[in-house]
Parts: sequence; C-alpha cells; structure tokens
Amino acid sequence: MNRKSENLAVIGAQWGDEGKGKIVDLLCDRFDVVARFGGGHNAGHTVRFRDKHYTVKLIPSGIFHSDKLCILGNGMVIDPEALLEEIDKLRSVGVTIESNLKISDAAHCILPYHKALDMAREEVAGEAKIGTTGRGIGPAYETKVSRFGIRIGDLLDSQVLREKIDFACAEKNPLLKTVYGKPTFDPGALFDAYTRFGQILADRITNGPVLINEKIREGKSVMFEGAQATMLDIDHGTYPFVTSSNCSVGGVATGLGVAPKHIHRVIGVAKAYTTRVGSGPFPTELSDAVGEQIRKRGNEFGTVTGRPRRTGWLDLPVLRTASMLNGLDSIALTKLDVLDDFEEIPVCVDYNIRGKRWSTVPSFAVAQGDYKPVFRTFKGWRKSIVGITSIDDLPQQARDYIRFIEDETGCPISVISTGPRREETIVR
Ligand code: IMP
Repeated sequence: MNRKSENLAVIGAQWGDEGKGKIVDLLCDRFDVVARFGGGHNAGHTVRFRDKHYTVKLIPSGIFHSDKLCILGNGMVIDPEALLEEIDKLRSVGVTIESNLKISDAAHCILPYHKALDMAREEVAGEAKIGTTGRGIGPAYETKVSRFGIRIGDLLDSQVLREKIDFACAEKNPLLKTVYGKPTFDPGALFDAYTRFGQILADRITNGPVLINEKIREGKSVMFEGAQATMLDIDHGTYPFVTSSNCSVGGVATGLGVAPKHIHRVIGVAKAYTTRVGSGPFPTELSDAVGEQIRKRGNEFGTVTGRPRRTGWLDLPVLRTASMLNGLDSIALTKLDVLDDFEEIPVCVDYNIRGKRWSTVPSFAVAQGDYKPVFRTFKGWRKSIVGITSIDDLPQQARDYIRFIEDETGCPISVISTGPRREETIVR
C-alpha cells in the first residue's frame, strides 16, 4: 500500500454501507487513478469535502481530489441523467470535473424502462421483494446479459441508438403494460433524451480498458473502488437477496479490463457491527431496542433511499467468507466508536444451521429462522473513543475486540475508524 505503483482494491466485506467512501478518500493521496468497476447509482459513498459531507453515487470518491483521474468502468450500469445531475451538483460546490472524469464506452446505460420494471416487480412481489434501491440496476444488467443492452458508446451513434431503443420499447412496453399494468415509454422521446446525454458526455467517453492499462504501463497507481459488497455479489452473496453485479474482487478484472496480476493488494471494509438494507437473511440481526440504539448511534439510514438500515452484531462467518473470496490483505474496521456505550458486545463466531456448525456463509439459501448464531461475548469499554488516532490509546477491551477479529479472520486490521472525519482514524 505504500509503494506508489501498487494498485489497491477497496471492497465491502459485509452487506454494503461499511464506510468505503471514507477509506477511499483517506487512502486517495497515494494513488493517481481511482476507478469504479461495477454497480450504478444504487451506491452511495459519503465523503467529506471542505468541512461538509457529500454523497457520490456513480462518480468515484477520488473526484474530490482534483489531481486524480476517475474512471467509470465497463462493468457499471449508468443512468446518464443521474450522472449529469451528480456532475452538476458536485461542480456547484466547487469540485473540479473536467478531463479528470472518463467513462468506458462499454459501460451499459440504464433507461427509464429498467427503473419502471425494477419497481413494478418489487410491487408485485410484496413480502417476497428484494428491497432493491429501485434504480433499475437488476433489469439493466439483465439487458446487458441478454446482449440487447445500450452501451454508453452507443449514445454517440444515432442509427444504432435509434434501432436499439425501438427494439427495447417494442419488447419492454408490452411487458410493462400487460404484465404489470404500468405506463409505457415513447421511443422517440427516449431517443431524443439519450442523444442529448451522449452529446453532453461525448468528451468523457473513451475505451476504458485501454485508458486504464495505459496508466498502469506508465507506472501510475490505481485504486479500484468497490461499490456494494461481498454479501451482495450476484455469484457469492446471499442470493437472491443480492445486487446484480460482481461486487467482490473478481469484478475488478472484468469490470475494468484489468488483468488480475495488476491487483496487488485488497483491503476489505467492515463495520465493527453489521447492517444491511433490503430483505434477505441477516443472522445476527437485532430487532429490539439494542438494534435501535446501534441504528441511532451509527446513523444507520440509507444514503441513497433514506431507508432505516437493519442492524446487528458483528458476524465472523461473513468476514471469513469475505476474506477468502477477496483474498483480503487487511481489513479497515469502521465505526468502532458506535459500540462505545455497550456493556457487552456479542460477536457471532459460527452459525448453527439445522444442527450443523458453519464457520463461513453457506452458498445455498438459508431462511432467517434457520440461522442460529453462536455468540462469544466481549466486555464493552464504556467510554468514548471518538477521534482516537493511535491503537495504544484505545481501551484494552477495544484492543481485545480487534485482536479477536484479526485472529478469527486471519486478516490484520490496518485501519480503524473512530469517527466520521478523515482525521478520526487509526492507521497502523
Ligand atoms: P439493487 O442493487 O438496487 O438491485 O438492490 C439489491 C439489493 O442490494 C438490495 O437489498 C439493496 O438494498 C442492496 N444494495 C444495493 N446497493 C447497495 C449499497 O450501496 N449499499 C447497501 N445495500 C445496497
């Protein structure tokens, strides 16, 4: 992580919202390029800039450092309207967005029918819904995989764009109307809007893999900024309650066109407890006053949708799985200060699933009720650790907690966050 030419992937180790934005921002100085490899505006990274907090959804958090090149990779799904809004908003507060932001021409576009389908399906699913962010992410990835997707580069070719939009509307409109009873889309209006988006974005659209590999050849260092997290990965997460991209480290290679040998180090970001938004299994969930206390103290409300996050104790099978799948070199442990007030801090060491002990997350779907977390309880430190910057200044109980996580995951904890500000961090 220290050598300038080393590339680092920053990956969510739980179900998202671990505080990746702060970690990326903190480590940014050491890198020349910051690149996103997957997801879309379902992500929400909060970064402090000139004493205020801002949320970026599509643009890499590196954008707050004007000397970094930021790349939106081919593995992303991009709603051009949301991207332009984000650019305008950041520019209005003084963030430089000129030639420092580039978009891969092979990234896929989200169109309004994707969003409409996402929301219609969730509505019909009722209790069985995934709890998506409603941004059209899943349907956009589906169109990509079906090979009928509209790529960012297509926005610059009016004939291709028109044909693809006409085909998409001919296919999606009857689905929306007859299956879901929803309004349809006018292909002409979509063509006009997406042509305009292409004109505005034209100078940023480039061959992403060529650009990033050129930088690597020049000896520039790259930070691969993960969005969402390992447990939301389409292949490795708690399927079907996942997002639709590979948000664990494998996504870096496919989502940017970077060979695995260029990913030198991987840091996993994990909260000192666990949260998740949306539906799906959450073995250590606290549906009581303690959970509410964590939610309040940790301000656990969704950055993108504002939804209250589900909260629970730290889950080591999740972290072990994330460590294995991503080959984590180290962990950045965030929000340790949120646990300041607790007399006792239970940690899930294993699951008991129908009488069998599991130390990692099973690959098959397990109903919430079938998970019986096996806890080990730690003594709380019961004093404020907010703003502490040296491990030696942490209370012994907090150090015991950290050491236990390191021992159980086999992963050193290299960064500990003791508050939302950049300076409120222990870097080891
Ligand atoms: P989608 O990505 O909008 O399709 O949502 C699928 C699942 O992933 C839902 O449970 C979302 O709440 C969750 N999800 C997607 N993006 C994020 C994120 O950035 N943080 C946390 N959860 C997310």
